[in-house]
Formats: sequence, structure tokens, C-alpha cells
Amino acid sequence: MGTLLKLALVGALLALLGERIMNFCHRSKIFNEVKPVDLPNCQLLKGIEAGSEDIEILPNGLAFISTGLKYPMLVNFAPDEPGQILILDLKDDSLSPSPLRISKGFDSSSFNPHGISTYIDEKDDSVYLFVVNHPQLQSIIEIFRFVEEENALIHLKSVKHELLNSVNDIVAVGPESFYASNDYYFTHLYMKVVELFLGLSWTSLVYYSPGDVRQVATGLYSGNGITISNDKKYIYAADLTRHTINVYEKNKDWSLSPIKAVNLDTLVDNLSVDPVTGDIWTGGHPNLYKLFIYNTEDLPCSEVIRVQNIHSDNPIISRVYVNNGSVIQGSSCASVYEGQLLVGTVFHRALRCQLE
Ligand SMILES: *[C@@H]1O[C@H](CO)[C@@H](O)[C@H](O)[C@H]1NC(C)=O
Repeated sequence: MGTLLKLALVGALLALLGERIMNFCHRSKIFNEVKPVDLPNCQLLKGIEAGSEDIEILPNGLAFISTGLKYPMLVNFAPDEPGQILILDLKDDSLSPSPLRISKGFDSSSFNPHGISTYIDEKDDSVYLFVVNHPQLQSIIEIFRFVEEENALIHLKSVKHELLNSVNDIVAVGPESFYASNDYYFTHLYMKVVELFLGLSWTSLVYYSPGDVRQVATGLYSGNGITISNDKKYIYAADLTRHTINVYEKNKDWSLSPIKAVNLDTLVDNLSVDPVTGDIWTGGHPNLYKLFIYNTEDLPCSEVIRVQNIHSDNPIISRVYVNNGSVIQGSSCASVYEGQLLVGTVFHRALRCQLE
């Protein structure tokens, strides 16, 4: 090969690499610093030191909290303890969530809960809790029935499927059916790193019911929080490294039609919908580098964002609470209930705030 050709090839490769590095820095917001925004009445929940990755609040004020997530490339402050589902009653002033007992026969020792979702069966008011579980880093959807009098979860079934290869979050739409988001296309750790670095938009949303499993959206960089509008007509899905909430119309056959993507200028994690106003709340990561490369001198930050009128031409995006990591690190979700805000984190504490 001629020297000139070799030089040209090397140059082209370097240019491509440079472009990918710049693109990666942009998507990960690795130079981003935050301006704190405080809320006056916030208290940390007691006993949560190793994550409160996802939070779901029932109409009666009971909040489910998943804790103890162990995930590739993320720090964990209680590596020897299995994950748990905690419950907190927002109708009283308690700051102490308690763990739910899980029925015999379920392997609690390898429980590694991630995204969660609830479904209430209108026929008999049964409450089902769906949990994304990663035992030995697999992706399994566990379906439980919640028995409030016994403070317990009865395990009903485990769902595995090749399209559910790297599930991050789910939203239940029936006693046995759900939409799920995949955060990576690849399952192997090294390939996940390559995928994140190259910025491949290969992840998908999947609809699952016992007789029907299919991809209903593709082309996401990293699917994350997923939830449903109060009128059940729309699905909202976070695309972490695209910084967007994607809005889809839900069709009769459960397929999804993309409507739009709203840019929040942060790495959007789990989503929740205010049951009264329909506003979307999310925990975001202002800087992915700080989240992944844990450094006590330069802590990961937290950011709680509210999106009002997402279906209008001009949604209102407000940063309601922003913290530099001194109080809570790595916020992953935010949910509201009757003037209260709960903020969860990937691997740190949880916060309860009174709004206004
Ligand atoms: C973080 O914020 C707190 C108070 O809001 C402040 O005391 C502290 O110095 C800040 N830390 C850094 C590293 O900026």
C-alpha cells in the first residue's frame, strides 16, 4: 500500500474516532456541572443507603421502593446483601419504609430488583407488582401479587424471552402483560461498553403478553424509564443518552406509533406520571461520567425534572430539585402523591419532600 494511502486511512480512522469521542462526550454530558435548586421541606428516608432505583405509588398512598440494585459498571454500597422491595405509607409521616416478605419458593438470595410497575385488577382490586430482576445479571420479569394484610409478595411467575434481553424498566398493562424497555442491545458486558461508546441506537421497546411478544419501537440509544398516561392512551419512554422522553400513541393491537421526542437536556432515567395533573416526573443524571466513575471527591449529582403539558407544542420543563451529591447522588426516579415528592437513586439514598 502506498504511504499516502496508509496516511489517508489512518487520518480517516482518527477522524472517525475523534467524532465518536466528541459524540460520546455530548451524549454523556461528561463536562456538565449543575446549579443546585433546593426544596425547603426534604428529609431522607431511614435505612436506605444502597439504592432506591424505582418507586411506584398506589392510589391509596402505599409506595413500593426497589433497593439494592447491582448493575455492571455501577457502584454498590451493600454488595453482599440481596435486593429488596420496601413499602412506605405516604398517608402517615413515617420516614421508615419496611421490607416486604416474599413467598417461599422464590430465590430471594439472588434478588436484584431494577424497574418496577404495579397493576390493579379492576375485577377484584388485586394488586400485582411487576419487577425487573437481574439474578446473575440475567433479565427476568417477576410477577407478584401484593397481600397488604401480610406485608407480603406472593410470587406468581417469572417471564424470560429473547426480546427481553437487557430490560431496564416495565409498565404493566394487564395482570400478565406489560411493555418493557431494553437499555442495551448486547448482553455481554464488553459489548455493552462498546455499544455505549459508539452510541448505537439499537435498543427497543417490547410488548409482552403470554401469547404475543414483539418489538413495538426500535432505534432508541438506551431505553430506560417507561410509563403510561393517566388516560391509558399514550406510552412515555425515556431515552437515557438521547436525553429525551419519547411519546408514543398506543394502538388497539398494542403496537405503538411514535408521536414526538421531548429533549430534557439531561440523561433521563425512570418516569412517573402525576395521577392528578398528568405531569411527567423524572430523575435525571446531569453527568453520566460521574455516575459510572464513582469518586467521593466529585460526587454524582441528582436532578428532578417535571414536564407539564407534554402533548402541547410547548411543554414546560422545570428543574424542581437539583443537588450536587451532598444530599443524594444519582437520582433515578421521582414520584408525586398529594403534594409529596419521593426521589429515588440508583445506588444511594431516598428523599421525601413536601412540595409547596
Ligand atoms: C454542594 O452543595 C453544598 C450545599 O448545597 C455545599 O455546601 C457544598 O460545598 C457543595 N459541594 C461541592 C463539591 O460543590
